[in-house]
Amino acid sequence: MQTIHSVAQVREYVRGWHRKGHTVGFVPTMGNLHDGHISLVREARARCDVVVVSIFVNPTQFGPNEDFDRYPRTLDADAAALVDAGADLLFAPSVDEMYPLGQNQTWVDVDGLGDYLCGASREGHFRGVTTVVSRLFNIVQPDVAVFGEKDFQQLAILRRMTEELLFPVKIVGAPTSREEDGLARSSRNGFLSESERKLAPQLYANLQQIQQAVEAGERDYRSLEARFSDALNEAGFAVDYLTISNARSLAPAAENDTDLVIAVAAKLGQTRLIDNVSLAVV
Ligand code: PAJ
Repeated sequence: MQTIHSVAQVREYVRGWHRKGHTVGFVPTMGNLHDGHISLVREARARCDVVVVSIFVNPTQFGPNEDFDRYPRTLDADAAALVDAGADLLFAPSVDEMYPLGQNQTWVDVDGLGDYLCGASREGHFRGVTTVVSRLFNIVQPDVAVFGEKDFQQLAILRRMTEELLFPVKIVGAPTSREEDGLARSSRNGFLSESERKLAPQLYANLQQIQQAVEAGERDYRSLEARFSDALNEAGFAVDYLTISNARSLAPAAENDTDLVIAVAAKLGQTRLIDNVSLAVV
C-alpha cells in the first residue's frame, strides 16, 4: 500500500487503474481508524478491484467550538491497519492540498435532510461534509464509495447529493460496528473517562428498548422520545436529541410511517456520541 499526499498523484494512480479496467472502491475517513472503519474497507475490498482510503480531518465540517484541534491524528497506526485490511492506496492530504485557495467559497449544500437531527444543532456541519466529499469524489473518481450507517444522516445526505449531482458513484451503506457491550465504535470514544465509558452503552440499550416498544405496537412517538430522553438525562447524559424519525425524510415520524430510524445524540462530559437503529413497522 502506498501513502500519498498530493491530488496529482491520486489522479495518476486512478487513471492507471481505470485504463486497465479495474473498479475503484473508496472509503473516506478522518482517521484514528477502528474496526468500524476497517469493516468499510473490507466491504469496498469485496466489491472492487482496488481500494482507496482517505484520511483527512476536514476543517470545514467542524464548528468553531467543536473538537477540530483535539481530533486524534494517528497516521502511522492507521496506515498499518490499512495494510492489514488490504487497502491499495492511502490518500492523506494536508489542509492546503484540499483547500489550496484558502477560505473556501464553493459549497455543496443539500437542503431539507440537513434540517433535522445533527443538522439542527451543528450548523454548517453537513455543508462541510458534502463539500469535502464532492472534492474527494472528483479527485478519486471511485466507482463505489462506502459509508457507515452509524452516521445515518450523513449517509442519507450523501446519497441525495450523489444522485442530484449525477456523480457516477454507487453509494454503499455498511452496518454499525459495535463494542461487545453495544457501544458504537467511534474515534471519539477514546475521549471518555473510565466512568463515562461504563455509562456509554446505555445509549444503544435505550435505543433497543424504544425499538422493542415500537415493535410491541407503541405509536405515541413523541411521548416515547420524551420518556427516554428523560431517562438518559437522569442517567448522566446530556441529550441533544432523541427522535423517532421517518427514515427517508428524517422528519419526526408520523403514526403511519413504515420506515423509521430512532436516532440519538448525547454528550457525556465533553464527548458527543451519536447512535441509531432503523426498523420497519408493518
Ligand atoms: P469518520 O468519522 O472518520 O468516519 C468515516 C466513515 O466510517 C463514515 O462513513 C462513518 O459512518 C464510518 N463509521 C464510523 N464509525 C463506524 C462504526 N462504528 N461502524 C460502521 N461505520 C462507522 O464520517 C466522517 O469521518 C467524515 O464526515 C467524512 C465522511 C470522512 C467526511 O469528512
